[in-house]
Amino acid sequence: MTTTLALFATTVGLLAVAFWWIRRNNLAVYPAGRAPIQRRPLPTGCDLGARLMAATATEAAGTGGTMTRGDGTSAPPKPMAPKRQKRHEGPTRRDFFRLGLLVAGGGLFASFAGASLGFLWPSLRGGFGAQLDIGGEGEVADAIAAGGGRFEYPAGRAYVVAYDPALDPQGIYADITNGAPFMALYQRCVHLGCRVPWCESSEWFECPCHGSRYNRWGEYEFGPAPRGLDRFKINVVDGKVVVDTSTIVTGPSRQGGTLQQPPAGPHCNGS
Ligand code: FES
Repeated sequence: MTTTLALFATTVGLLAVAFWWIRRNNLAVYPAGRAPIQRRPLPTGCDLGARLMAATATEAAGTGGTMTRGDGTSAPPKPMAPKRQKRHEGPTRRDFFRLGLLVAGGGLFASFAGASLGFLWPSLRGGFGAQLDIGGEGEVADAIAAGGGRFEYPAGRAYVVAYDPALDPQGIYADITNGAPFMALYQRCVHLGCRVPWCESSEWFECPCHGSRYNRWGEYEFGPAPRGLDRFKINVVDGKVVVDTSTIVTGPSRQGGTLQQPPAGPHCNGS
């Protein structure tokens, strides 16, 4: 928003400068009373005749010929008068409008490009797309317990769940947990992108859109989803839990899950 306003102000400033410059240099933009309009007299018939004679004489001189007078005698051609230089009168009204359109179009394009870039650029100040410090290790563990098995962190579009390496003998999540006792899951359903809520009764993640279900570690259990939930890397740095939402790690395949977690109760999205 700030970028857009700055670009808009720049565009207005450029237009103002262009307007001032045209006003300073082009009298045609301003009617009489504010600045005199200088007009050149139209050429008369005699002037046009004289120019024609001069052009004919020059042509004859170029071919080495002579001019024939009315009484039949010939005369050497007269040298052609030098062409009058066209007086420079500064930019025209058309130039002004062209310049104005160009500046306005450029400003609008720059505003649009700036706003788009600002929208798409990953946030580096604590939102999705940044390295998020979500709290101390003890605080996160308490929040997971208080949440019945998951801690939701909306700013990062993430769920944080407890991770026990003993339940992951193949270490398929070792590279994203980095020794932390937590795992961070992306809330977006890998089927068609709905946000997947936590089901209190089954203690699974269950998508309301088309019925996909994932266990507490976000592994595929049921429905049209092609794999388990995607996830983020997580680290514990100086006792602080940091979730890296700048990179999304693809979830495990349908058969790649390792947590054997039956539902704790009825499902939220069907039987
Ligand atoms: S979007 Fe989740 S099951 Fe379709």
